[in-house]
Parts: sequence; structure tokens; C-alpha cells
Amino acid sequence: MSAFIDSLIDDMTVEEKAGQLTLYTSGWAVTGPQLRDDYLEELKAGRAGNLFNAHTVDYAIKLQKMAVEETRLGIPLLFGLDVIHGYKTTFPIPLAEASSWDMDLIQKTARLSAREATAAGVNWTFNPMVDISRDPRWGRVAEGSGEDVYLGGLIAAAKVKGYQGDDLSDPSTLLACVKHFAAYGASQAGRDYHTVDMSDRVLRETYLPPYKAALDAGATTFMTSFNELDGVPASGSKYLMTEILRDEWGFTGFVVTDYTAINEMVPHGVVENEKQAAELAFKAGVDMDMQGGLYSRYLPELIKEGKIKESMLDQCVRRILEMKYKLGLFEDPYRYLNKAREEQTLFSKELMDHSLHSAKESIVLLKNEEVKGAKLLPLSKSVKSIALIGPLADNQKDMLGTWHMSGDASKVVTLLKGIKETAPEVTVHYASGAGFGDSDMTGMDEAVRAASKADIVIMALGENYQQSGEAASRSDIGLPKSQQLLMEKVHTLGKPMVAVVMAGRPLSMTWMEENIPAIVNAWHLGTMAGKAMAEVLFGDHVPSGKLPMTFPRNVGQIPVFYNMKNTGRPFDESNKYTSKYLDIPNDPLYPFGYGLSYTSFDYSNIALSTEELARTDTLSVRVKVTNTGRYEGKEIVQLYLRDLVGSVTRPVKELKRFKKINLKPGRSETVHFKLTYEDLCFYTRDMSFKAEPGKFKVFVGPNAMEGLEADFDFN
Ligand code: NOJ
Repeated sequence: MSAFIDSLIDDMTVEEKAGQLTLYTSGWAVTGPQLRDDYLEELKAGRAGNLFNAHTVDYAIKLQKMAVEETRLGIPLLFGLDVIHGYKTTFPIPLAEASSWDMDLIQKTARLSAREATAAGVNWTFNPMVDISRDPRWGRVAEGSGEDVYLGGLIAAAKVKGYQGDDLSDPSTLLACVKHFAAYGASQAGRDYHTVDMSDRVLRETYLPPYKAALDAGATTFMTSFNELDGVPASGSKYLMTEILRDEWGFTGFVVTDYTAINEMVPHGVVENEKQAAELAFKAGVDMDMQGGLYSRYLPELIKEGKIKESMLDQCVRRILEMKYKLGLFEDPYRYLNKAREEQTLFSKELMDHSLHSAKESIVLLKNEEVKGAKLLPLSKSVKSIALIGPLADNQKDMLGTWHMSGDASKVVTLLKGIKETAPEVTVHYASGAGFGDSDMTGMDEAVRAASKADIVIMALGENYQQSGEAASRSDIGLPKSQQLLMEKVHTLGKPMVAVVMAGRPLSMTWMEENIPAIVNAWHLGTMAGKAMAEVLFGDHVPSGKLPMTFPRNVGQIPVFYNMKNTGRPFDESNKYTSKYLDIPNDPLYPFGYGLSYTSFDYSNIALSTEELARTDTLSVRVKVTNTGRYEGKEIVQLYLRDLVGSVTRPVKELKRFKKINLKPGRSETVHFKLTYEDLCFYTRDMSFKAEPGKFKVFVGPNAMEGLEADFDFN
């Protein structure tokens, strides 16, 4: 590889080199603010070495032919795409899938997505998105794994392994791109593209670990984030792109910017013009310019002026050519472009089956109370009639969620269809009732009529696919007002009611929690959404998902996440001068890690192998979990740690381990966790990463707020 690339670089002009550092969208999809109509001329002139939003075998072959046959050196293109939760077959949005806490499942989703996308010519996905996010106003929470560092890191690694497999030259694997580096999830007030400012301690302790976990799993490319950090836009940050990513972490792949992020350093106000922006990004350690065209326009000039060394340019080119080489593109530029394979792979049975499986595992049961002496869910298939009401009840497109790219809405199973398939004997009165805006209430009367005819009402409420994702922040994260009114109106009929909430973020739904006896949080579940929801509603599947992100009571509570600090005045009911709100409790509506089952689990007998832990010891923690209900079901057993005293304050809880177990009714399992020195480490007062002697508490339970406790000392 080295010799091949050396000789190729020797043959390249500076313009051709800058071309390899350039990525343009094909114009097939709009994923950013501007398109270019000259990308084909640029491609043929050797000034655009990579494309994104260009897929399907037929289309990609044409473009690859241009690169290979019409450019001077014939260097094949990379084809990038945002394969975020599937290519054609759509899986649950990432935040939903994170609720499964199932790494094999998540890795398989990535593996299958890669298989399908590569069959359509894609060899680079802009995923995983591993930004820790603790503000549900931010629409992009849908794309990530939620608020927790440990869970987020495991998921990041699982996705990288799934996409890249063990061998990049295998035509069913593709390059993964870890994004958005760094700390994009902490944008102020949850407004997209907004400023990020945090201490280096918080950056390193909370925000960086998932990127690092993705890198350790072998991630080959990284994407810069739009935000500034400590006053420097990420795409111009030498600290992030070189000092941390390459020097500290040893990253050897290439870094691409986000969409026109170099150009955006001008409005950020750190450079006067785009030429300076190109120089700043290049010197920071950014290898490839997405869509901005500035590297191609200015690098040759900057080299001529002696501002940039050509040897540095060669280094970036090398990193990119290496990836093309590893993918096998120099051996066969058409390796990913096989029409027969494309036809066989799209929507294959394996993909559809996994989409259903993943959707079921992603559903979180938030509430299930007794109505007339029995839990409302699961519903009996012999119930005579149900009313299915809401704009998401028979809605294909919105089930696909944000970033569904090529997802095919016509293949989506809606909730209405799912119910008809799952409980064919039940009469269903369907009405959409409301829309997604605040005032769309034309269907209200029809919905009330439908509800009054039925024994049970299911409300299918939430957000459409455009209400979360990029550029989709909301300042009010309740249900759209029209839906809230619809729910309240139908509620006055006094029928047993189940709310199925489909959304791309945690919604604040305090009224619902107070008034509706059963609530299922179904996110946006993808192609098989309706079937998965129906199987849960009618008990063919027992739900086991747990929230990867805290649900606030209202927007004023944000940021609210489980591992906050204790403060010097922790809340004490009997003392006015303690940390609290006057109008709501401190605790959230639903905590991180929370989720119910149709069965119940009892936790008992927590036991530690030692109460005095030394540096080289392993601490074993055992807990007995018993299924005390009537259904076989899965439970995600969670272990949290608290370091009581540190040279800097420590969070009240940190997730350190979890295990998803399956138990038959009446059966118990002793769940066994092991902790080592590394689990106790943190960035201490002087920023060295180590554990400090002292007292620790272990918590094991069903979510971040409940569980058993035990203590140990670390010496
Ligand atoms: C902008 C988004 O921030 C990023 O996540 C995505 O990969 C690119 N656009 C390309 O579509």
C-alpha cells in the first residue's frame, strides 16, 4: 500500500491533491444549506475526489466511471452517505435503539445497514453520531445514544464494529465516521449549531469518552462539529483535531469537516475570510473539506505563498488514499457496484426481521396502571372494539424518523396495520383527530365519535419525522397543542386509555402521566414500527426497553440528567434554603434507565466480595433478581457507583455496568458484576486520571433512581 500510494502522490499536481481533500454532495439529497451545480465539472477536472448523497448502483457507476475514466489519474471516488439507522430498511432511530441496551442487537443493525448500503454503492457512512446530549430541546438527540458516557461509549464501539466488520476490503463493510467531534451535544439552550462552552474536565470526563471508545473500536474517520468550544470552532481547533485526536489518542485515519464547516468559521468570527478559514482548518489538522470547496480553491495558493507545506498536504492525501486502498477501490473501483447484489439485498428478509426485533426491544413502557382491577396492558385480543386515534396511528412516513435518507415509507407497517395483523378479531375505529401543528384540530369531532364507540382507546401521539433531527430544536417539548387538546377531549369520555408516544426526543408529558393509565414510549421505530407496537400492546412481546435519556417534567427543568452533582445544599424538605424549585420536584418525570415490564422484578441480597478494595483487586458485586410477575420477561439490571469524597466533586451516581437478563415467572438469577480500579478513576484536581482512596457506594437496581445499596472503601 505504501509504495503504491507514494508513487501515486509523486504523480499528483497540487490541485489534484487538494481535490482528494474535497467532498461534494451530488445534489440527490439536501443535507445542508447549499448545493453546487458544478460538482461534475470539478470531479472531471480532478478537483473533487469524493462524493456524498450519491447512491444506487446505476447512479454511482456513472459517477465512478467519470472519476476512473475521465480524470487524469483515474483515482476512484469514495461514496459517503448518512446511513444513520438503516439504508432502505429502516431501523429505530438511534435514541430508540439505545433503549434496548443490547450491544449485539445494535452491532447487528450497523452490520445489516452496512450490508444494504454497500450493495447500493455506499462505502462510507457518516455514523456513528456519539455526541452525549442532555438537552431534549436539541433535535439531534434522536441521532445519538442519549445522556450517559458509559452506555454511549459501548454503543459507539458496537456501531463501529458493525459497520466496519473485520476487513474493510470485504464489499459488505464500509468506513465509519465518528461525529461530531467534539461536544456538539452541549449546544447552549438546545439550539442547533449553537455555542458550546465547558471546562476541560467536563469535556474529558463526559463528552470525549464515546469518541475515544469509537476510535478504540477501530473507527477510520472522524467528522468535525459545527460548534465552537472554548471560543474556537471545532473545524479550526488544533487542540481537538491534532493534540487530542492524533497526539493523545493516536488516530491515523482522516478527519472530514461537517457540511461547509470551514466556511462557517467566517461568521463564527475567528477569521476574516474563507482563505484564512482554509488555512486555519488545515493547520488544525482537518484532512477533508465537506462541501465548502475551500481546500480545492485555496490550498494550492497557500502552498505557493509558503503558508502551508506541501509535505503536510501529502500527509492528508495519504490518509485518504489509504482508506480508498483499504476498501479495495484501487483493485476494483466498482467493487461496491453490483446490480445483482443490490437487488438481492435491499429489504431482504434478514433485514426486515431484524428491523422488527430491534423495534420491539426499543419500546419503553412508562406507565401501566390498573383499570377495573387489572393492569390495562397488555390488551386482550378478545376485546370487542378499540378506537385508534391520533396523527401517528396510520402514518407511514413519520415512523421512519429523522435521517431516514432512502427509507421507503411505502414499506412501513403502521400501527393500524400492525393491530389488524396482530389482533384480527378486534374491531378498530380509526380517526386521525389532529395534526402536528398547534392548531390543526379539524378531525376532533370525528375522533370523539370513534372513541365513544369503543371499549378501549389507544392514542397515537407525538412528533412527525421533521420535528426532531438536525435543525429541529424545539423550545417547548410537549405534544403539539392540537394533540394535547385532542387527548384531553377524548379523555373526558372516561374510557380506558393507552397513549403510545412516538417522538424523536424525550417529550415532557406531565399531564399524560397524571391522567392516562398506560403510556408506551415508542420513539420512531422504522419500517416495522406498527407491528412492533401492536405486539407490545397485545402482549405478544413483553417490553423491556429502558430510557437512555431522562424525561423532564417541563422545559424549565433542563438540563436534568441522572448523574448531576450533589451541591452544598442538597434538597431537604424541611429546609427552605436547599436546592430546589418552588413549583416542581427536582426529580424528573422518568429517570434515566427507567422502563417497566408486564412482569415485575424484585431485587434482593446485594453482596460485595470485599468492603476494602485495593488497587489490584477486583470487586465482585452480586444481586439476586427474581421475576415476581406472571410473564416471562427481560430486565436490564443496572449498576451505579458513587465516589463520596474526591479532590473534586463527584456525580451522585455513575453507570458502570449493566446486564440484560431474561427470566421466566417465579425464577431468579444472581447477577454478577465485576469492577476494577479503572472504574473508580476520574479526572482529579490536577487533571490526572486516577482513583482516590476513600468511601464508595454501589447501587444496583432497575433504573438510576431505585435500587439496593452497598458500601466499600478503596485504599
Ligand atoms: C450535516 C450534519 O451535521 C452531519 O451529521 C451530516 O453527516 C452531514 N450534514 C452530511 O449530510
